[in-house]
Amino acid sequence: SEGPTPTSVAIVSQYACQRRTTIENNNSIFTDAFEVLAESYEFSELEGQCLAFRRAASVLKSLPCEVRRQEDIRDLPWMGEHTKAVMEDILQYGHSFEVERMLSDKKYQTLKLFTSVFGVGPKTADKWYRKGLRSFSDVLTEPSIHLNRMQQMGFLYYEDISRAVSKAEARALGSIIDEAVRAITPDGILALTGGFRREKEFGHDVDFIVTTPEPGRENSLLPDIIERLKQEGILLYCDYQASTLDISKLPCPRFEAMDHFAKCFLILQLEGSKVEGGLSRSKEGGRGWKAVRVDLVSPPVDRYAFALLGWTGSRQFERDLRRFARLERQMVLDNHTLYDKTKKEFLAAQTEKDIFAHLGLEYIEPWQRNA
Ligand code: CTP
Ligand code: MN
Ligand code: MN
Ligand code: MN
Repeated sequence: SEGPTPTSVAIVSQYACQRRTTIENNNSIFTDAFEVLAESYEFSELEGQCLAFRRAASVLKSLPCEVRRQEDIRDLPWMGEHTKAVMEDILQYGHSFEVERMLSDKKYQTLKLFTSVFGVGPKTADKWYRKGLRSFSDVLTEPSIHLNRMQQMGFLYYEDISRAVSKAEARALGSIIDEAVRAITPDGILALTGGFRREKEFGHDVDFIVTTPEPGRENSLLPDIIERLKQEGILLYCDYQASTLDISKLPCPRFEAMDHFAKCFLILQLEGSKVEGGLSRSKEGGRGWKAVRVDLVSPPVDRYAFALLGWTGSRQFERDLRRFARLERQMVLDNHTLYDKTKKEFLAAQTEKDIFAHLGLEYIEPWQRNA
């Protein structure tokens, strides 16, 4: 491999799992622009071009300082012609014409609006757009449209769940879930995961992992928690998916977006009084509570470290962990296991550190995984 060049003191790895990326982003002017284009390619199902902008954004997020000149990015990975052209515009004019054009594009705006509803993905949004629908009221008054329950809830609680969840709200939800777990089993294990574990200030939801040291017991854990939340009167919506885990079928032949653990996607009613300083809307004279999205995942305890690593994110960090394992180590990593294809064996792990060690990677703290 190449040594450091005179202009690049530190070589930046092409893998996010070999970079330390905190929430402090010195290049948001570029990465926000890239995200708009990545999203527009996602809407058009141009995955390669979407990924190119996401990878470039992820590299810039890891830099300790702001990019000021075109030559600053000369030795960085994933800087393609298109990304360079967008950056050149921003460096020269303060903004990208292509991004400005996209932001004022009616189709982009409409798909962005529709996909902001819980339960509405790019496919559904595009279907609605092609029907000529342009606003929520268009969708809600269109007789040929049947909304599923998730989408009905998405519209019903749109105001609340489209607003960011704060750290204080995440903490309050943590206490509620903890209380429920404690009441069900004293040896229950609860861990915050997702963006809040990466020390993000805001999130679109709050993610938790729950399990128990007793093998098999984790299967009744989520149904028990859900029942308690229902009895407390704070369960507004619940999409529960039982475990489909079959250890004999691991590793999965190809990577799947969803893992096989028992999980549930919830909307909970969070009381203002449970949050320090109350919720802003209760001060506004509103109803005094806020609907908040919560995800719970419940792996068997021997899969805990893999589940925690897989659900902590960021998505880009996860992608590169799996890509690194495959291309650099001939291993298969997913949310359940790590498999060494050379040795033809599964590598067990009690902690995330064990997994990084198996992969021959320096340990990256959760707060350094904001790739
Ligand atoms: N994840 C997953 N399988 C799912 C859903 C999520 O493995 N079915 C993982 C993703 O890789 C992601 C993490 O769980 O990194 C958290 O997902 P999500 O809540 O969507 O994203 P966050 O990083 O928490 O960001 P946000 O603040 O927007 O919630
Ligand atoms: Mn999350
Ligand atoms: Mn989530
Ligand atoms: Mn599978």
